[in-house]
Amino acid sequence: MSHTSKLDQLKAKRAQAAAPAGDAANNRQHERGKLTARERVARLLDPDSFVELDAFAVHRTDAFGLAEKRFVGDGVVTGYGSIDGRRVFLFSQDFTVLGGSLGEVFAEKICKVMDLAVRTGCPIIGINDSGGARIQEGVVSLGGYAEIFWRNVQASGVIPQISLVAGPCAGGAVYSPAITDFIFMVDKISQMFITGPEIIKTVTGEEVTFEELGGALTHNRKSGVAHFLCADEDDAFEQIRHLLSFLPQNNLDDPPEAETSDDPRRTDPRLIDIIPPSANMPYDMIDVIHRVVDDGDFFEVQALYGGSLVVGFARLGGRSVGIVANQPAVMAGVLDIDSSVKGARFVRFCDAFNIPLITFVDVPGFLPGTNQEFGGIIKHGAKLLYAFAEATVPKLTVITRKAYGGAYDVMCSKHIRADFNVAWPTAEIAVMGPHGAVKIIHRDEIAKAKDASAREDELVAEYVERFANPYVAAERGYIDDVIDPAMTRPVLCNALAMLRTKRVARPARRHGNIPL
Ligand code: HXC
Repeated sequence: MSHTSKLDQLKAKRAQAAAPAGDAANNRQHERGKLTARERVARLLDPDSFVELDAFAVHRTDAFGLAEKRFVGDGVVTGYGSIDGRRVFLFSQDFTVLGGSLGEVFAEKICKVMDLAVRTGCPIIGINDSGGARIQEGVVSLGGYAEIFWRNVQASGVIPQISLVAGPCAGGAVYSPAITDFIFMVDKISQMFITGPEIIKTVTGEEVTFEELGGALTHNRKSGVAHFLCADEDDAFEQIRHLLSFLPQNNLDDPPEAETSDDPRRTDPRLIDIIPPSANMPYDMIDVIHRVVDDGDFFEVQALYGGSLVVGFARLGGRSVGIVANQPAVMAGVLDIDSSVKGARFVRFCDAFNIPLITFVDVPGFLPGTNQEFGGIIKHGAKLLYAFAEATVPKLTVITRKAYGGAYDVMCSKHIRADFNVAWPTAEIAVMGPHGAVKIIHRDEIAKAKDASAREDELVAEYVERFANPYVAAERGYIDDVIDPAMTRPVLCNALAMLRTKRVARPARRHGNIPL
């Protein structure tokens, strides 16, 4: 064979790899409302940056007619490229080839890029669109999944791992995305579930559609399995790029610093007006966040879940920070099971990847009720406490209004080693709210009073005067300062710069035992 024909042979093979199941299969993928595996890679990455690996890999199975279905690439596109000029590794499952089902070689390809991502300290992005374990390959497929799961666990806290679910992701296959740091799901085309509608109907008698059971809305709103709801695939790519802009390449790297024209010394005299005249009135903590961070850019994580706590990424003076904030606009900002678990996972992510934590506090306490107690609020609330206490990144806390009871301690208080705590003059730091407190400590007196309600009001006013303010905590150094809210941004930017060289030495241990 001449050199020319050898090159022609290579070209022909490449062309085959570009559409291994043929154009008709690609068209069917489009008819399903989905992009092809390669289109996804091209749209996610910087133009022309993709370098493919193992494009010619094929499976080694002859059973159940697979000998006739040996598609080039084996149903998954793998390799590396860049996003905003920074290297990422990725795999993109190709539903047009055997339903994107995972067999031995398919798994080997994914493992290869995962290993490279860890070895070179770069994020990995997995695009999932698959019918699950390749049935014809039997236990070998299960072994392949487990190889991926094991790598997901080893890579956890070492490189950012991002999953985009853009099609089915069913059965045990869900556990790879579940271990990764963030799951993006696309409305209408993504489904995740352990057992499908038919099995559920047989076992429990329940009737449920695929979408209701495991669609993007379900997992963003109800289960909290997913972190981002995307309107379509392009929205997903955009959101993934936005997320990555806040993250370091790996746990030994610092997050990238962004150019900003937003002055770190910028003050905002209108911040205090956000706090309503009465302590029982809600306000939107996201307004506070927008006014404080660089250019008002706040990238919220799990916006549809555990809404009484807001978490997400932003920048202060160009540096990435993780924001954790009670949301008085939702259930008065109370901590419940969902918000505690959401907060804990976010705090641990930030701590693993050197992203300082900024906590805004306005919390009336933990949500009362049998639902919460029977659901384990004790252990779930403890997760948030554990995560904040364990975190060694710079921790900065701003108390805007209520900081009551155990929730005061939990929300990154000085006592669990926050580095810099300030309060607005509107802060009320106390064991509990004035009305509840007065009813307990002055029960007899109120009962005996001629006008019980008037006496109660007097006692409440006295309590507010004595305890519902930031100065008792300031006297003891539990907060470092009481600041004019207008100064929040300059004060935080300054403290963040002061904490740049923070170091913490901890005794060696195998690992802690976070209450799970
Ligand atoms: C082999 C598969 C496959 C699989 C789909 N295909 N899933 N081939 N192994 N797991 C093939 C189909 O035979 C079909 O091939 C092509 O992919 C497209 O599938 P369709 O059914 O035509 O597509 P659609 O109607 O869109 O339905 C998609 C689907 C459905 C909902 C995913 O295919 C499905 O239910 N598949 C089986 C899912 C499943 O039970 N997987 C095993 C789960 S257990 P042709 O040649 O006809 O085009 C599991 C365990 C993981 O995954 C364990 C990890 C520890």
